Amino acid sequence: MPKITFIHRDGSETVVDAKAGLSVMETAVENDVEIEAACEGSLACATCHMVVEDQDWYEKLDPPSEDEEDMLDLAFGLTKTSRLTCQIRVTDALDGIRLRVPEET
Ligand code: FES
Repeated sequence: MPKITFIHRDGSETVVDAKAGLSVMETAVENDVEIEAACEGSLACATCHMVVEDQDWYEKLDPPSEDEEDMLDLAFGLTKTSRLTCQIRVTDALDGIRLRVPEET
């Protein structure tokens, strides 16, 4: 199982064994990471926004779709390595990735 690290707003970290096939958003919600994910993954809310900690990791991910980019534009605290986590599937290739909850939602 790939290990994903979620960094909370207070700086604490949770390392989880993620299940392949779920989205990163679903993994975060299952592990009480403080994102809202209001639309439950239908790419209609931007409240599953998280920041990929490391530029190298960001570049390893499949690039965001145009629809994701449009929705990301509505996210608070947007950064150059921001993603909507409902659009990232957990695979073994994600082992070691670190994602940070943005300051604002
Ligand atoms: Fe709404 Fe990801 S959960 S866009």
